[in-house]
Amino acid sequence: MNICCIGAGYVGGPTMAMIAKQCPDINVTVVDINEQRILAWQTNELPIYEPGLLEVVQESLGRNLFFSCDIDKAIYNADIIFVSVNTPTKTFGEGAGRASDLQYWELCARRIKKVSESDKIIVEKSTLPVRTAEAMERVLHSEDNKVHFEVLSNPEFLAEGTAVADLNNPDRVLIGGHETPSGKKALELLIQIYARWIPRDKILTSNVWSSELSKLTANAFLAQRVSSINSISALCEATGADVAEVSHAIGTDSRIGSKFLQASVGFGGSCFKKDILNLVYLCETYGLKEVAEYWQQVVEINEYQQTRFTKNIIKSMFNTIAGKKIVILGFAFKADTGDTRESPAIRICKELHAEKADLVISDPKAILNAKDDLSELSNVIYEEDPYEAAKDADAIALLTDWSTYNNLDFQKLYEIMRKPAFIFDGRNILDHKNIFNLGFEVYSVGKGRLSHLN
Ligand code: UDX
Ligand code: UDX
Repeated sequence: MNICCIGAGYVGGPTMAMIAKQCPDINVTVVDINEQRILAWQTNELPIYEPGLLEVVQESLGRNLFFSCDIDKAIYNADIIFVSVNTPTKTFGEGAGRASDLQYWELCARRIKKVSESDKIIVEKSTLPVRTAEAMERVLHSEDNKVHFEVLSNPEFLAEGTAVADLNNPDRVLIGGHETPSGKKALELLIQIYARWIPRDKILTSNVWSSELSKLTANAFLAQRVSSINSISALCEATGADVAEVSHAIGTDSRIGSKFLQASVGFGGSCFKKDILNLVYLCETYGLKEVAEYWQQVVEINEYQQTRFTKNIIKSMFNTIAGKKIVILGFAFKADTGDTRESPAIRICKELHAEKADLVISDPKAILNAKDDLSELSNVIYEEDPYEAAKDADAIALLTDWSTYNNLDFQKLYEIMRKPAFIFDGRNILDHKNIFNLGFEVYSVGKGRLSHLN
């Protein structure tokens, strides 16, 4: 059997590497229009940073895992085609700023139709608005041709930083298919592939529309939990409650559960905001104004939380940060990735820069992406080494939960910084009492400040 995957990004690359590892008898070819990416997947410097991924790729590379720019050939030979191209938020026309831009998806569908001479199963891996499969089927089956395309929805739930573990041992795999004989046959074939390493009871099936909507809903629910606890963090700061204690107290209720209750500078990543906006747009399209407004608020709170963090920095530093050196510790949207898409650090840095702060950006994996994201800002310094970055700095703003930041020598940092030395912990991962005792002014999310000043 031959599998082809169009789109060698954060989703396509790791997912196909796992299928190739688990199914040595299936040829898996990942194609992309970006030649550099395709080349990088075949080196020791993969185009994305993901713990444990290099080993998984190298196990199958050249055996049954191939990366190629010959998109047409891979489509032609494939029995199953996964489509994993990006579906960013539209920046133009109807639905701009909210709806998904489906132009790459449609281009893929047209290309598949043009090249194919045998029946194929098309699997939606990209996150898509509900009923996209229907539109794609129309494109694929427009005009008369003898080739049959069966479209399945198989959303990917992996999270960056833990992609390998998520793919190896997922909570569930979801496959949506049509209730027709050919739909059921295609569904069964895809189930057989996943069943090679995933227990059968974890492979869920549904109709196509439920599957498409489940992916949007899962991301909306996860993001909603982050916005919910972040909204409470503001109230904690106002009242003297401690958000970590509140999270722990409510998380021990088995009905609520403890995950995704970590207050922060806000959620980032390529999916949460895009998918919620997409959901909002869908609701509006179907005339569900109240439902749309409900979900929109999850995004609003996220932006409020980021700006609130910036305002807190300014207020704490005596209402001016002009000419003050602020070190941004962590630029990635979460730990264990170099990805900075929608990272809260982007907005916070732009806000601090607008107040004329001198910014130094430090991150173990995301410096290159940060340079791209902040290219319009002048006089920003990039320095991977936290100690070099902190020399003569007035403040440190910790924005990514890299575990290495916990092991920094804060005594040394305190000595090389200007006084009073401020730390703003946007992830609540540091030992606040300890660093306060070293002399720092300590501010965190949803907790009282620790100050020597009065
Ligand atoms: C993508 C989607 O953004 C997301 O909605 C979905 O859930 C999974 O797939 P991701 O893998 O993170 O997420 O995107 P990205 O890393 O940007 O990779 C997409 C790849 O598709 C890029 O390498 C791009 O070059 C490629 N692409 C895009 C094509 O090969 N052909 C196209 O026509 C467009
Ligand atoms: C998410 C979903 O988890 C995944 O299932 C889907 O396939 C893609 O989108 P990802 O964006 O990679 O994955 O990371 P995730 O771990 O969900 O974190 C998203 C953001 O929320 C990060 O910025 C993270 O720091 C933040 N977050 C998460 C919090 O601020 N607090 C939390 O308690 C949890």
